Amino acid sequence: MPNINPTIPHPANPMANDGRLKIALQKSGRLSEMSFRLLEKAGISLTKSRDQLLCKAHNFPLDVFLVRDDDIPAFLATNVCQVGILGQNVLLEKKALSAKKYGVLDEVLTLAFGRCRLSIATPTGFSYENISSLNGKTIATSYRGLLAAYLQERGVDAEIVTMEGAVEVAPRTHLAEAICDLVSTGNTLVSNGLKEQDTILQSQAVLIKNRIKDQDLKVIYEKMLSRIRAVLRADNSRYIMLNSPIAALDAIKAVLPGSSSPTVMPLQGREDMVAIHAVCEEEVFWPTMEELQRSGASSILVVPIEKMLN
Ligand code: PRP
Ligand code: ZN
Repeated sequence: MPNINPTIPHPANPMANDGRLKIALQKSGRLSEMSFRLLEKAGISLTKSRDQLLCKAHNFPLDVFLVRDDDIPAFLATNVCQVGILGQNVLLEKKALSAKKYGVLDEVLTLAFGRCRLSIATPTGFSYENISSLNGKTIATSYRGLLAAYLQERGVDAEIVTMEGAVEVAPRTHLAEAICDLVSTGNTLVSNGLKEQDTILQSQAVLIKNRIKDQDLKVIYEKMLSRIRAVLRADNSRYIMLNSPIAALDAIKAVLPGSSSPTVMPLQGREDMVAIHAVCEEEVFWPTMEELQRSGASSILVVPIEKMLN
């Protein structure tokens, strides 16, 4: 819990409404770097020092609170911050533990980074057939809320041991017979002699918000959101340029991935050829480029897009 009392107005109280939107980001850890990079790509410059709680944007009315990811939902629930970037796993766990307190938090946008899954794993010697194999067993986790709901829905009666971290050592130390923990590469499981058995949740980073009541803050939020959407769209888009025989124009347009209306331009000194430029709102893979080439395209160039505003 943030130890800032929301009711006391004080000049030093960073949560007093000073017309600046407050965002909570993970101070360090798996989401931290990418969260900062996203804001920077959205043209929001932050002072680099990260060892403090608060860091101010100098070209946008936004203050960044650097906190533990577990604390982000509380910062929003108490309106110290209005927005945050967090793994769905943490948001959903908090909601599972207290729907009342965290009901005001909404997921606004998936951000396509920080992907991981919450899975049940057992020592390799454990004979696991399905989730019912956990009946009467002890399971260690930092995700009691999500695990309890998952087991209950499936009628499995197991004992849950809550751990703050290092969940993967629980079976070796006989604290529990199985675990339920985050997996991304799977290395932690392997190096602890554990096997992933059931995935209970797929997760990635999301932008979350509370019910922003203040009109001025709402305007700032909308502006930030529109920039972040533009960044995500640009990240997923490519600019493609190629030369095409006029006769093959329709065939080539049909192959161009996720583009609505390409620009067609004459090529100096070539009556039979045109240049095509298009924004493709998806990745352009090698097989697509090869198909374009087979359809008659030449000089195919695919470049990343830095900014895009529709
Ligand atoms: C998570 C999880 C595992 C590890 C899995 O911990 O608890 O220990 O990541 O990742 P892997 O599959 O790539 O090996 P995290 O890094 O979030 O630290 P924490 O448990 O201290 O929060
Ligand atoms: Zn963590």
